[in-house]
Amino acid sequence: MAVSKRPIAAVILAAGDGTRMLSRIPKVIHALYGKPLIGHVLDAIRAVGIVKIVAVLGYRSDLVRSHLGTGVQVVIQRSLKGTGHAVAQALPKLKGFKGDVVILYGDTPLLTPQTVRGLIEAHQKSGAACTLLTAQLKDPAGYGRIVRDRTGRVVRIVEDADATQAERMIEEINVGAYCFQAKALTTALKSVRPAPNGEYYLTDTIAALVRTGQKLSTAPTRSVGEFMGINTRADLARVQTIMRSRILERFMLGGVTIIDPYTTYIDGSAVIGQDTVIYPHTVIEQGARIGKRCQVGPFCRIGPGTVLENDVTVANFVDLSRSRVGAQSKILHHSYINRARIGKRVTVGAGTVTALGEGHGSGGSMIRVGDRVEIEGGALFLGPVSVRAGVVVPAGSALGRKS
Ligand code: UD1
Ligand code: CA
Repeated sequence: MAVSKRPIAAVILAAGDGTRMLSRIPKVIHALYGKPLIGHVLDAIRAVGIVKIVAVLGYRSDLVRSHLGTGVQVVIQRSLKGTGHAVAQALPKLKGFKGDVVILYGDTPLLTPQTVRGLIEAHQKSGAACTLLTAQLKDPAGYGRIVRDRTGRVVRIVEDADATQAERMIEEINVGAYCFQAKALTTALKSVRPAPNGEYYLTDTIAALVRTGQKLSTAPTRSVGEFMGINTRADLARVQTIMRSRILERFMLGGVTIIDPYTTYIDGSAVIGQDTVIYPHTVIEQGARIGKRCQVGPFCRIGPGTVLENDVTVANFVDLSRSRVGAQSKILHHSYINRARIGKRVTVGAGTVTALGEGHGSGGSMIRVGDRVEIEGGALFLGPVSVRAGVVVPAGSALGRKS
């Protein structure tokens, strides 16, 4: 859904190499919850209806580019001369664009669409040349500080490294999310001079706008955590924990019982029905669909694309993937079920293994089990087989063996 009357473009800065990740892979494509960091930022941008998106890439841009999806224009910043220089590289793609430009960093994956929308709304309401999100932090070290005059008007942003002792005491910080009128941005960037470290700071555009008498506006954000940037793999793990609890919270508020959120991982794209109970140490992956009143776990993996209809029980230590399980069926413990289509009211005994080897294709060959089948413990499926409805498969059977 579009948020505004004026057109909006977005610029994402992602040229940095992420030195502190100690990685050959650019920081912004490190995976968080099965998606590259920059993919999360793009999701938030797309969710508010922004379609004109420019990404500023640098380090191993070819690799990053392949993770952007469609509709993202790419510019390359050949040397890392600062955030202001990075945005300047994107300007040619915004030539003739008359709306507002949202600028975000590519390494803040917790950013929500609501926050992006809030920034745009605040900007369009204020009529300012630039609106920036700020936050109050007890420990503002490392962030740019918002410097205001006696009347409370913003006069500039000072970076931590360049701040005086007194400025370091300022607790209002720049979180790193901006909305500019395109024309004001272009003009202000032209007047930015290199900082003491040789970089062109995007944050110096604020003082430039003030000098030319343009209106600035700030929007306070309470959710500073959303702007937690990722610099190290330890940060990545911390952000992953936050994202995981956000997603689990959503499932719980939607009627799913999660016995132990600390040891449960559920992909955000999964769908889980009401009154289903998820036991500890369970992993539910991309696109899994679980019906109502199911019981899953403990120690289970529900792999990508797996479907459990209503009232299914998946006992401990079961690994299920690319399969469909009919209503009221039970998969007993220590089973490995891959590429199976299991009917309704089926019991799959403990230790059942489907070992479809290579050469059975990726999706075409399947194990098919009719309704009300009982597979006694320890059955081995060595190839694609069909088991008719109502049959009992004796304990320890080996089915589908090539003769
Ligand atoms: C920046 C802000 C600071 C703010 C903080 C919030 C500036 C000068 N400072 O500082 O006020 O409090 O974010 O986290 O903007 N990048 C490029 N090309 C460059 C430099 C950076 O694309 O030449 C990208 C990086 O890949 C990164 C983003 O810009 O995604 C931010 O750069 P970073 O160096 O992390 O800025 P901070 O020092 O954190
Ligand atoms: Ca940073």
